[in-house]
Amino acid sequence: METLTLIGAGNVGKSMGRLWARSKLLEVRHVINRTLESATRAVEFIGQGQPVSRYDEIAPSDWVMISVPDDQIEFACAQVAELNVLALGATVFHCSGSRPSSLLEPVRRRGCKIASMHPVKSFADPLQASQTFAQTPCGIEGDDEACLRLEGLVVASGAKPFRLDGSSKLLYHAGTVMVCNYLTALLETGFRCYEAAGIPRARAMELAAPIVAETVRNVFKSGTVAALTGPIARGDARLVADQSLALQQWDSAASDVYKALGAIAVQLAREKGAAPEALASISETIG
Ligand SMILES: NC(=O)c1ccc[n+]([C@@H]2O[C@H](COP(=O)([O-])OP(=O)(O)OC[C@H]3O[C@@H](n4cnc5c(N)ncnc54)[C@H](OP(=O)(O)O)[C@@H]3O)[C@@H](O)[C@H]2O)c1
Repeated sequence: METLTLIGAGNVGKSMGRLWARSKLLEVRHVINRTLESATRAVEFIGQGQPVSRYDEIAPSDWVMISVPDDQIEFACAQVAELNVLALGATVFHCSGSRPSSLLEPVRRRGCKIASMHPVKSFADPLQASQTFAQTPCGIEGDDEACLRLEGLVVASGAKPFRLDGSSKLLYHAGTVMVCNYLTALLETGFRCYEAAGIPRARAMELAAPIVAETVRNVFKSGTVAALTGPIARGDARLVADQSLALQQWDSAASDVYKALGAIAVQLAREKGAAPEALASISETIG
Protein backbone atom coordinates (compact mmCIF):
# COMPACT_ATOMS: atom_id res chain seq x y z
CA MET A 1 0.00 0.00 0.00
CA GLU A 2 1.27 3.52 -0.76
CA THR A 3 2.26 5.64 2.22
CA LEU A 4 1.19 9.13 3.32
CA THR A 5 2.83 11.82 5.45
CA LEU A 6 0.32 14.25 6.94
CA ILE A 7 1.63 17.74 7.63
CA GLY A 8 -1.09 19.58 9.55
CA ALA A 9 -3.73 17.22 10.90
CA GLY A 10 -6.53 19.61 11.86
CA ASN A 11 -10.07 19.46 10.50
CA VAL A 12 -9.12 18.49 6.93
CA GLY A 13 -6.00 16.44 7.72
CA LYS A 14 -7.75 14.33 10.37
CA SER A 15 -10.81 13.73 8.17
CA MET A 16 -8.84 12.65 5.11
CA GLY A 17 -6.28 10.67 7.13
CA ARG A 18 -9.05 8.70 8.84
CA LEU A 19 -10.89 8.12 5.57
CA TRP A 20 -7.80 6.89 3.69
CA ALA A 21 -6.52 4.75 6.59
CA ARG A 22 -9.92 3.09 7.16
CA SER A 23 -10.55 2.46 3.48
CA LYS A 24 -6.98 1.12 3.13
CA LEU A 25 -6.33 3.47 0.22
CA LEU A 26 -3.17 4.85 1.88
CA GLU A 27 -1.14 3.92 4.92
CA VAL A 28 -0.70 6.96 7.17
CA ARG A 29 2.93 7.09 8.38
CA HIS A 30 3.98 10.31 10.10
CA VAL A 31 1.58 12.97 11.34
CA ILE A 32 3.02 16.36 12.27
CA ASN A 33 1.30 19.26 14.00
CA ARG A 34 2.72 22.22 15.88
CA THR A 35 2.69 20.27 19.13
CA LEU A 36 3.22 16.59 19.85
CA GLU A 37 0.03 16.56 21.96
CA SER A 38 -2.04 17.73 19.01
CA ALA A 39 -0.34 15.26 16.62
CA THR A 40 -0.99 12.46 19.14
CA ARG A 41 -4.69 13.35 19.36
CA ALA A 42 -4.86 13.41 15.56
CA VAL A 43 -3.28 9.97 15.28
CA GLU A 44 -5.79 8.61 17.82
CA PHE A 45 -8.60 9.99 15.70
CA ILE A 46 -7.12 8.69 12.43
CA GLY A 47 -6.40 5.27 13.94
CA GLN A 48 -2.99 4.97 12.27
CA GLY A 49 0.41 6.69 12.06
CA GLN A 50 3.14 8.01 14.27
CA PRO A 51 2.81 11.48 15.80
CA VAL A 52 5.80 13.84 15.55
CA SER A 53 6.38 17.53 16.17
CA ARG A 54 9.69 17.99 14.34
CA TYR A 55 10.10 17.98 10.59
CA ASP A 56 13.40 16.03 10.76
CA GLU A 57 11.49 13.09 12.29
CA ILE A 58 9.53 12.53 9.07
CA ALA A 59 10.54 9.60 6.85
CA PRO A 60 10.07 9.65 3.04
CA SER A 61 6.67 8.49 1.75
CA ASP A 62 4.79 8.22 -1.56
CA TRP A 63 2.38 11.06 -0.74
CA VAL A 64 2.74 14.21 1.36
CA MET A 65 -0.43 16.13 2.19
CA ILE A 66 0.18 19.66 3.50
CA SER A 67 -3.06 20.57 5.25
CA VAL A 68 -1.79 23.37 7.47
CA PRO A 69 -3.53 26.80 7.43
CA ASP A 70 -2.87 28.63 4.14
CA ASP A 71 -0.33 31.02 5.64
CA GLN A 72 1.80 28.08 6.84
CA ILE A 73 2.01 26.20 3.50
CA GLU A 74 5.23 27.87 2.32
CA PHE A 75 6.89 27.32 5.70
CA ALA A 76 5.93 23.61 5.80
CA CYS A 77 7.07 23.15 2.21
CA ALA A 78 10.41 24.86 2.89
CA GLN A 79 10.96 22.61 5.91
CA VAL A 80 10.47 19.32 4.04
CA ALA A 81 12.52 20.61 1.09
CA GLU A 82 15.45 21.82 3.23
CA LEU A 83 15.53 18.77 5.50
CA ASN A 84 15.21 16.51 2.44
CA VAL A 85 12.71 14.13 4.07
CA LEU A 86 11.07 13.47 0.68
CA ALA A 87 11.06 10.45 -1.60
CA LEU A 88 12.13 11.13 -5.19
CA GLY A 89 8.96 11.25 -7.33
CA ALA A 90 6.64 11.62 -4.32
CA THR A 91 3.39 13.53 -4.85
CA VAL A 92 3.21 16.56 -2.58
CA PHE A 93 -0.06 18.51 -2.44
CA HIS A 94 -1.76 21.15 -0.34
CA CYS A 95 -5.49 21.65 0.27
CA SER A 96 -5.92 25.39 -0.15
CA GLY A 97 -8.66 26.58 -2.49
CA SER A 98 -7.17 30.05 -2.82
CA ARG A 99 -3.40 29.44 -3.17
CA PRO A 100 -1.79 27.82 -6.25
CA SER A 101 0.20 24.60 -6.18
CA SER A 102 3.21 26.60 -7.39
CA LEU A 103 3.76 27.53 -3.70
CA LEU A 104 5.27 24.04 -3.52
CA GLU A 105 8.00 24.84 -6.08
CA PRO A 106 10.83 24.13 -3.55
CA VAL A 107 9.83 20.45 -3.35
CA ARG A 108 9.49 20.18 -7.12
CA ARG A 109 13.16 21.20 -7.28
CA ARG A 110 13.80 18.19 -4.99
CA GLY A 111 12.31 15.85 -7.60
CA CYS A 112 8.71 15.67 -6.32
CA LYS A 113 5.49 16.17 -8.29
CA ILE A 114 3.29 18.97 -6.96
CA ALA A 115 -0.44 19.72 -6.97
CA SER A 116 -3.29 21.05 -4.87
CA MET A 117 -6.60 19.42 -3.99
CA HIS A 118 -9.42 21.61 -2.70
CA PRO A 119 -12.46 19.69 -1.44
CA VAL A 120 -15.54 21.90 -1.80
CA LYS A 121 -16.84 20.83 1.58
CA SER A 122 -17.13 22.16 5.10
CA PHE A 123 -14.91 20.14 7.46
CA ALA A 124 -16.31 21.69 10.66
CA ASP A 125 -16.86 18.19 12.13
CA PRO A 126 -13.99 15.82 11.11
CA LEU A 127 -15.85 12.60 12.01
CA GLN A 128 -18.89 13.60 9.99
CA ALA A 129 -16.69 14.92 7.14
CA SER A 130 -14.77 11.63 6.93
CA GLN A 131 -18.08 9.73 6.72
CA THR A 132 -19.70 12.00 4.13
CA PHE A 133 -16.77 12.63 1.80
CA ALA A 134 -18.30 10.58 -1.06
CA GLN A 135 -19.55 12.80 -3.94
CA THR A 136 -17.54 15.82 -2.68
CA PRO A 137 -16.29 17.90 -5.64
CA CYS A 138 -12.49 18.33 -5.39
CA GLY A 139 -10.72 21.06 -7.40
CA ILE A 140 -7.31 19.91 -8.62
CA GLU A 141 -4.43 21.74 -10.31
CA GLY A 142 -0.68 21.25 -10.61
CA ASP A 143 1.78 19.05 -12.50
CA ASP A 144 0.03 16.75 -14.98
CA GLU A 145 1.41 13.60 -13.38
CA ALA A 146 0.51 14.71 -9.85
CA CYS A 147 -2.99 15.76 -11.01
CA LEU A 148 -3.59 12.36 -12.60
CA ARG A 149 -2.48 10.58 -9.42
CA LEU A 150 -4.63 12.84 -7.22
CA GLU A 151 -7.64 12.35 -9.50
CA GLY A 152 -7.18 8.60 -9.10
CA LEU A 153 -7.09 8.96 -5.30
CA VAL A 154 -10.14 11.24 -5.24
CA VAL A 155 -12.16 8.86 -7.44
CA ALA A 156 -11.09 5.87 -5.31
CA SER A 157 -12.32 7.87 -2.27
CA GLY A 158 -15.77 8.12 -3.90
CA ALA A 159 -15.46 11.87 -4.58
CA LYS A 160 -15.55 13.90 -7.81
CA PRO A 161 -12.40 15.60 -9.14
CA PHE A 162 -12.50 18.63 -11.42
CA ARG A 163 -9.63 20.69 -12.86
CA LEU A 164 -8.92 24.22 -11.65
CA ASP A 165 -6.85 27.03 -13.15
CA GLY A 166 -4.12 27.78 -10.58
CA SER A 167 -3.97 31.45 -11.63
CA SER A 168 -7.62 32.24 -10.77
CA LYS A 169 -7.94 30.44 -7.46
CA LEU A 170 -8.49 33.59 -5.39
CA LEU A 171 -11.71 34.35 -7.29
CA TYR A 172 -12.73 30.68 -7.44
CA HIS A 173 -12.31 30.40 -3.69
CA ALA A 174 -14.17 33.68 -3.11
CA GLY A 175 -17.15 31.88 -4.69
CA THR A 176 -16.99 29.19 -2.03
CA VAL A 177 -16.55 31.80 0.71
CA MET A 178 -19.68 33.59 -0.53
CA VAL A 179 -21.96 30.53 -0.93
CA CYS A 180 -20.78 28.86 2.28
CA ASN A 181 -19.24 31.16 4.90
CA TYR A 182 -21.10 34.32 3.89
CA LEU A 183 -24.37 32.42 3.68
CA THR A 184 -23.85 31.63 7.36
CA ALA A 185 -23.08 35.29 8.09
CA LEU A 186 -26.14 36.37 6.11
CA LEU A 187 -28.38 34.00 8.07
CA GLU A 188 -26.91 35.44 11.28
CA THR A 189 -27.82 38.95 10.07
CA GLY A 190 -31.37 37.79 9.38
CA PHE A 191 -31.69 36.17 12.82
CA ARG A 192 -30.52 39.43 14.42
CA CYS A 193 -33.26 41.31 12.54
CA TYR A 194 -35.89 38.90 13.90
CA GLU A 195 -34.45 39.31 17.42
CA ALA A 196 -34.54 43.10 17.09
CA ALA A 197 -38.24 42.71 16.24
CA GLY A 198 -38.76 40.80 19.51
CA ILE A 199 -38.66 37.23 18.15
CA PRO A 200 -36.30 35.02 20.21
CA ARG A 201 -33.44 33.21 18.42
CA ALA A 202 -34.93 29.69 18.67
CA ARG A 203 -38.26 30.86 17.23
CA ALA A 204 -36.46 32.88 14.54
CA MET A 205 -34.60 29.76 13.43
CA GLU A 206 -37.86 27.79 13.28
CA LEU A 207 -39.45 30.51 11.17
CA ALA A 208 -36.48 30.76 8.81
CA ALA A 209 -35.72 27.06 8.27
CA PRO A 210 -38.49 26.25 5.74
CA ILE A 211 -38.15 29.45 3.69
CA VAL A 212 -34.33 29.14 3.54
CA ALA A 213 -34.58 25.50 2.40
CA GLU A 214 -37.27 26.40 -0.16
CA THR A 215 -35.23 29.31 -1.53
CA VAL A 216 -32.08 27.20 -1.89
CA ARG A 217 -34.13 24.49 -3.64
CA ASN A 218 -35.61 27.07 -6.04
CA VAL A 219 -32.18 28.57 -6.86
CA PHE A 220 -30.72 25.17 -7.80
CA LYS A 221 -33.86 24.07 -9.62
CA SER A 222 -34.71 27.21 -11.60
CA GLY A 223 -31.77 29.65 -11.26
CA THR A 224 -31.35 32.91 -9.34
CA VAL A 225 -33.56 35.11 -11.55
CA ALA A 226 -36.58 32.81 -11.25
CA ALA A 227 -35.93 32.23 -7.53
CA LEU A 228 -35.88 35.93 -6.57
CA THR A 229 -39.04 37.07 -4.79
CA GLY A 230 -39.79 39.92 -2.38
CA PRO A 231 -39.94 43.73 -2.56
CA ILE A 232 -37.12 44.30 -5.06
CA ALA A 233 -38.43 41.58 -7.44
CA ARG A 234 -41.82 43.32 -7.25
CA GLY A 235 -40.30 46.78 -7.72
CA ASP A 236 -41.77 48.02 -4.41
CA ALA A 237 -39.61 51.14 -4.09
CA ARG A 238 -41.57 52.58 -1.17
CA LEU A 239 -41.11 49.49 1.01
CA VAL A 240 -37.38 49.30 0.18
CA ALA A 241 -36.96 52.96 1.19
CA ASP A 242 -38.84 52.45 4.51
CA GLN A 243 -36.98 49.22 5.30
CA SER A 244 -33.62 50.75 4.42
CA LEU A 245 -34.28 53.67 6.79
CA ALA A 246 -35.42 51.35 9.61
CA LEU A 247 -32.21 49.29 9.28
CA GLN A 248 -30.05 52.41 9.13
CA GLN A 249 -31.59 53.60 12.42
CA TRP A 250 -31.07 50.20 14.07
CA ASP A 251 -27.73 48.76 12.93
CA SER A 252 -25.30 50.13 10.36
CA ALA A 253 -23.71 46.72 9.56
CA ALA A 254 -27.13 45.17 8.79
CA SER A 255 -28.02 48.25 6.75
CA ASP A 256 -24.81 47.89 4.68
CA VAL A 257 -25.61 44.20 3.98
CA TYR A 258 -29.19 45.12 2.96
CA LYS A 259 -27.91 47.73 0.52
CA ALA A 260 -25.03 45.72 -0.98
CA LEU A 261 -27.13 42.60 -1.60
CA GLY A 262 -30.05 44.80 -2.68
CA ALA A 263 -27.90 46.07 -5.57
CA ILE A 264 -27.41 42.48 -6.80
CA ALA A 265 -31.14 41.82 -6.33
CA VAL A 266 -31.87 44.86 -8.54
CA GLN A 267 -29.77 43.27 -11.33
CA LEU A 268 -31.78 40.04 -11.01
CA ALA A 269 -35.09 41.94 -10.88
CA ARG A 270 -34.14 43.78 -14.10
CA GLU A 271 -33.65 40.42 -15.84
CA LYS A 272 -36.94 39.28 -14.38
CA GLY A 273 -38.69 42.23 -16.02
CA ALA A 274 -39.51 44.47 -13.01
CA ALA A 275 -40.51 48.06 -13.88
CA PRO A 276 -37.33 50.04 -14.80
CA GLU A 277 -38.54 53.27 -13.06
CA ALA A 278 -39.15 51.40 -9.79
CA LEU A 279 -35.73 49.75 -9.99
CA ALA A 280 -34.07 53.12 -10.71
CA SER A 281 -35.73 54.55 -7.59
CA ILE A 282 -34.60 51.53 -5.52
CA SER A 283 -31.04 51.91 -6.82
CA GLU A 284 -31.07 55.53 -5.70
CA THR A 285 -32.23 54.52 -2.20
CA ILE A 286 -29.66 51.80 -1.68
CA GLY A 287 -26.86 53.26 -3.85
N1 LIG B 1 -11.84 23.62 7.00
C1 LIG B 1 -12.39 23.45 5.83
O1 LIG B 1 -13.61 23.31 5.75
C2 LIG B 1 -11.54 23.41 4.56
C3 LIG B 1 -12.14 23.00 3.36
C4 LIG B 1 -11.35 22.88 2.22
C5 LIG B 1 -9.99 23.19 2.28
N2 LIG B 1 -9.43 23.62 3.46
C6 LIG B 1 -7.99 23.91 3.47
O2 LIG B 1 -7.34 22.86 4.20
C7 LIG B 1 -6.17 23.38 4.86
C8 LIG B 1 -6.26 23.07 6.36
O3 LIG B 1 -7.39 23.69 6.90
P1 LIG B 1 -8.04 23.17 8.28
O4 LIG B 1 -9.38 23.81 8.37
O5 LIG B 1 -7.94 21.70 8.38
O6 LIG B 1 -7.06 23.85 9.34
P2 LIG B 1 -6.99 23.59 10.92
O7 LIG B 1 -8.21 22.84 11.38
O8 LIG B 1 -6.67 24.90 11.54
O9 LIG B 1 -5.74 22.61 11.10
C9 LIG B 1 -4.45 22.99 10.78
C10 LIG B 1 -3.48 22.02 11.43
O10 LIG B 1 -2.17 22.39 10.99
C11 LIG B 1 -1.29 22.36 12.10
N3 LIG B 1 -0.23 23.33 11.84
C12 LIG B 1 -0.30 24.68 11.85
N4 LIG B 1 0.88 25.22 11.51
C13 LIG B 1 1.72 24.16 11.30
C14 LIG B 1 3.07 24.06 10.92
N5 LIG B 1 3.81 25.15 10.68
N6 LIG B 1 3.63 22.82 10.80
C15 LIG B 1 2.88 21.70 11.05
N7 LIG B 1 1.58 21.73 11.40
C16 LIG B 1 1.02 22.96 11.52
C17 LIG B 1 -2.11 22.70 13.33
O11 LIG B 1 -1.48 22.10 14.43
P3 LIG B 1 -1.93 22.35 15.96
O12 LIG B 1 -3.16 21.49 16.13
O13 LIG B 1 -0.77 21.87 16.74
O14 LIG B 1 -2.22 23.82 16.08
C18 LIG B 1 -3.48 22.10 12.97
O15 LIG B 1 -3.62 20.79 13.50
C19 LIG B 1 -6.12 24.87 4.52
O16 LIG B 1 -5.30 25.06 3.41
C20 LIG B 1 -7.57 25.20 4.17
O17 LIG B 1 -7.67 26.30 3.30
C21 LIG B 1 -10.17 23.73 4.60
